[in-house]
Parts: sequence; structure tokens; C-alpha cells
Amino acid sequence: MSLQDRMAVVTGAGSGLGRAIAEALAAAGAPVAAVDLDAASAEETAALIAKAGGKAKGFQADTAKAADVDRAVSGAIKALGALEIMGVVGLTRQMAVTYSARGITINAVCPGPILTNLRQHSQQILGPEIPDMSGRGIAVNDEQIRAVVPSGRRGTADEIASAVRFLASDEAKYITGHSLVVDGGWRAK
Ligand SMILES: NC(=O)c1ccc[n+]([C@@H]2O[C@H](COP(=O)([O-])OP(=O)(O)OC[C@H]3O[C@@H](n4cnc5c(N)ncnc54)[C@H](O)[C@@H]3O)[C@@H](O)[C@H]2O)c1
Repeated sequence: MSLQDRMAVVTGAGSGLGRAIAEALAAAGAPVAAVDLDAASAEETAALIAKAGGKAKGFQADTAKAADVDRAVSGAIKALGALEIMGVVGLTRQMAVTYSARGITINAVCPGPILTNLRQHSQQILGPEIPDMSGRGIAVNDEQIRAVVPSGRRGTADEIASAVRFLASDEAKYITGHSLVVDGGWRAK
């Protein structure tokens, strides 16, 4: 599954799912712009990719700020080439209808519960008062995971990254406007 020279912008690439996705795309040949709110972790992801023989550059940006996103994407295009891959939930279907005739596929991956440092990072960014999700049908410990997820376990960041790598590859070139749920059967239940 080759993504040779197909540049990818990955947001939240300093940790968890974003880092795993950045590493998986880079391993398949894509030059990767690793974008994160935290500059050091973005650079760390780029360094990990470079160490593994891939091509990447870290960019600091707050994805809630349009000017930051513009700066990061422009910088990525300047440093790494034309943008080819970018995982944006919500706009997927609309953009797929608009751009499919140009040979551009647009898909989303919707993860179930995946073991990352999400809660710790959310607390650092938003403060200790972030809402407790346990009363909202979201499994927060192993016992709840076993109760709500048919596979009985959390997924891994690599399992999300491999879905992204497939959707970005030529093997999936007739798949567009699709949101792929990767959740151990949680949604099916
Ligand atoms: N882990 C899960 O179970 C799970 C399940 C479904 C969806 N998600 C979603 O996937 C995304 C990644 O989650 P994760 O588990 O990898 O978390 P994580 O905390 O390990 O990684 C998130 C990264 O995003 C960065 N970030 C946060 N706010 C940012 C901003 N405004 N601009 C740029 N970067 C920002 C953080 O610095 C961090 O490096 C989140 O949106 C999360 O809600 C996670």
C-alpha cells in the first residue's frame, strides 16, 4: 500500500491517534506535516518519523484558529509539496460530492474507545474541570469497556492508523464520502 510522495497533513499529530496515523502514513511513503497545539510534541513526532526513515516536519497550530491552520497548511505545502491527504470529520460527505470528479477521495475514520493520553491532554489544555464522561454512555474503565464494546477491549492507535492508511491508498480509490467506524462493534450494538 504505497503513499509515495502524497503529502499528508495530520492534526493532533503530537500524541495518540494523530501520532500513530502520522507514523503509518509516513511508513507508507507519504511526506507528513505533523501539526499539533504543542510544538514540542509535533517536533517529536517528526523526529520519530525521520528516525524511521520517513519524511516529516512539525508545525505548531491551534486547529480552532483559522489563521493557525492556514499558516500550518501553507508551511506544509511549501516544505513538503502539494497536499493530498487530510482525515476532516463533518465535511466529508459535502467535500466528497464536490471533489470526487477530480479524482480526490474524502473519507473519515470514527474511532471507538482507544487507549491514548486523551484525558490527560484535555486536562492540560482545558483545565482540571473538564466534564466527567462516565455518565454519558462512554466507557471509561475496563469493566465498562467489556460491557459496551462487543470485542471486549479498547482499540489501539495502530488499528485506527491502518484504517486511515487504507482509505488514503489506491486500494480505496472508489471509496469516497464514507465515514468508517472502527470501534470493536460498539456502534453495531
Ligand atoms: N482515544 C479515543 O478513544 C478516541 C475515540 C474517539 C475519538 N477520539 C478523538 O480523536 C482525537 C485524538 O484523540 P487522542 O486519543 O489521540 O488524544 P491525545 O490527547 O493522545 O492526542 C491529541 C493531540 O491533539 C493535540 N491538540 C489538542 N487540541 C488541539 C488544537 N486545538 N489544535 C491542535 N492540536 C491540538 C494535543 O496536543 C495532542 O497532542 C480527539 O479529537 C479525540 O476526541 C479519540
